[in-house]
Amino acid sequence: MKVFSGTSNKSLAKKIANDLGVELSGLEVFVFPDGEKRVRILDKVVGEDTVVVQSTSTPVDENYMQLFFIVDALKRGGAKSITVVVPYFGYQRQDHVFREGEDVSVKVIVEILDTIGLNKVIAVDFHSLKIREIFNIQAVELSALPIFAKVIKEKGWDKDSSVLVTPDMGGIRRIKILSELLNNMPFVVIEKDRDLSTGAVSAEKFEGTVGKKAIIVDDMISSGGTIALAADLLKKNGVEEIYVFATHAVFSEKAPKILQESEVNSVYVTDTVLVPDEKKFPKLKILSVSQIISDVIK
Ligand code: R5P
Repeated sequence: MKVFSGTSNKSLAKKIANDLGVELSGLEVFVFPDGEKRVRILDKVVGEDTVVVQSTSTPVDENYMQLFFIVDALKRGGAKSITVVVPYFGYQRQDHVFREGEDVSVKVIVEILDTIGLNKVIAVDFHSLKIREIFNIQAVELSALPIFAKVIKEKGWDKDSSVLVTPDMGGIRRIKILSELLNNMPFVVIEKDRDLSTGAVSAEKFEGTVGKKAIIVDDMISSGGTIALAADLLKKNGVEEIYVFATHAVFSEKAPKILQESEVNSVYVTDTVLVPDEKKFPKLKILSVSQIISDVIK
């Protein structure tokens, strides 16, 4: 088996390769003066099972183009199979038409992946159930929830002392699964409203949290606004401590500051998206998804 990495998340790719008992194979990305890219695989892949790891986080378009080109190079190199690991799947938030006249970005991306000659896609925590079903090729969705459940159990946070919180209605499926993994820990749902043109979020009051430790669960953190708003509400509703578990640290520019200055005690994310040193902050803790990915490749 040969494992290749795009440039978006080499440290996770190295961990996955390591778990699989191989070194990363060579890949060159050449940038033309006008910004166009060309890739070249530096190892022979004839008759080989190959794996490409590429998170399609910022810069999203560039990372997707790189992924498409790597798949093409592997196909031309005679690879027996091509498995694409996209730990964070970019464009998944636009998974349907919210307002008349919009596109469905994720469908366009899936249609490209369906046709460029790869065999399987592996991703972690899609934004919604329907995304896996759009693929015609095999798509495997892994979940970070068991990783979160393990940490929560190790901390000794149980259903008497703690309550799970989803910061919006879209997270109900997620929170129910985590609740089951945690011996039916109770959960509350915050009804969040997002202004679709400005992105600003607001939320209604809710009940059931007084004197509890709150564990907010989400699939991704982008601006940090959803988490900061939920944390404010939880504090106003008598919560003592607040912990956040979110799979994808998409982190736009101001997110680290917003999260560090929020009411939250710690923010647990995974390494599906590489967090550069300048975006790390004292409350941040990073858990790895490498094992769950390498286990499904083996
Ligand atoms: C929304 O549906 C998602 O699950 C996240 O809650 C959202 O993308 C987080 O975005 P932000 O950090 O910008 O509020």
